[in-house]
Amino acid sequence: MSIKAIKTAVIGHPISHSKSPLIHNYWIEKHGLNGGYQAINIHPDNIRTDVQALVGKGYAGFNVTVPHKIAIMELCDEIDDLAKSIGAVNTVTIKNGRLYGTNTDAYGFIQNIKQNAPDFDFTSGRIVVLGAGGAANAVLYALLQEGAQEIIITNRTREKAQGLAAFNNKIIKVADWGDRNDICSGASLIINTTALGMTGKPPLTIDISGADNNALVTDIVYSPLQTDLLKQAQSHGFQTVTGIGMLLHQARPAFKLWHGVMPEVDKTLEKLVLA
Ligand SMILES: NC(=O)c1ccc[n+]([C@@H]2O[C@H](COP(=O)([O-])OP(=O)(O)OC[C@H]3O[C@@H](n4cnc5c(N)ncnc54)[C@H](OP(=O)(O)O)[C@@H]3O)[C@@H](O)[C@H]2O)c1
Repeated sequence: MSIKAIKTAVIGHPISHSKSPLIHNYWIEKHGLNGGYQAINIHPDNIRTDVQALVGKGYAGFNVTVPHKIAIMELCDEIDDLAKSIGAVNTVTIKNGRLYGTNTDAYGFIQNIKQNAPDFDFTSGRIVVLGAGGAANAVLYALLQEGAQEIIITNRTREKAQGLAAFNNKIIKVADWGDRNDICSGASLIINTTALGMTGKPPLTIDISGADNNALVTDIVYSPLQTDLLKQAQSHGFQTVTGIGMLLHQARPAFKLWHGVMPEVDKTLEKLVLA
């Protein structure tokens, strides 16, 4: 008796740039599974009908990327507490025609740091979060889960930072975007969650020279892999973690939900995705 192929996908608009098919199909092959993972372009106007079509075609689930991470929530039959707290769904599992939404971005962010800076202590020192977009939500959630005690968030649009600070107003304070150099002074962890510094976007202008001597600096932008922020951090002798691991690690729990196997992030996969 042949085992039915497990069909999975990522939906977004645009979607051709997505690295997710490379990642999931690498693991499907590595684990000798019967299945496939495709990138599917869904226009925001068609999300309801196109997602229903995936259910009809027997998909086991799909990842959700820009711009559908919030819109998909309305189409889910159930959303777990994690995704509700983050306010976005990036992974959907389909069972008996019902859609179950979760979010693996916070997991991806933390696992990347834990794999690449295993001794970093989230519970002491000041953490600076640059940006307050969709990804910052998951990053803040993850930092609070890890026991962060002092977080300063800054964003060009201050109101958005204020909205995110509502996660925990005791621990998270908001600073003006113009004060970003000052708040980095003495910081133990600096995280760029803005799109600045990404290929095709404006540079991130910042001076992080005043950070703590043992500071860790991470950028969730991974194109280029070594962003100007990370290069600056290295020039000051700070430890750095690139953003590619967040992308790779966020894919792991989704793969486990659909295939029952928790895959690993290895060097071959990293090279494949960066090629
Ligand atoms: N490594 C990973 O797995 C991973 C996961 C998710 C995202 N990312 C990357 O992270 C970045 C942000 O993603 P997102 O989903 O959070 O995007 P988003 O929701 O569109 O947020 C963009 C952020 O960048 C800021 N920004 C954009 N242009 C700016 C400018 N000219 N000056 C100052 N700030 C500016 C925005 O500030 P305003 O609020 O003022 O507009 C906002 O904070 C993207 O580059 C994305 O590729 C990586």
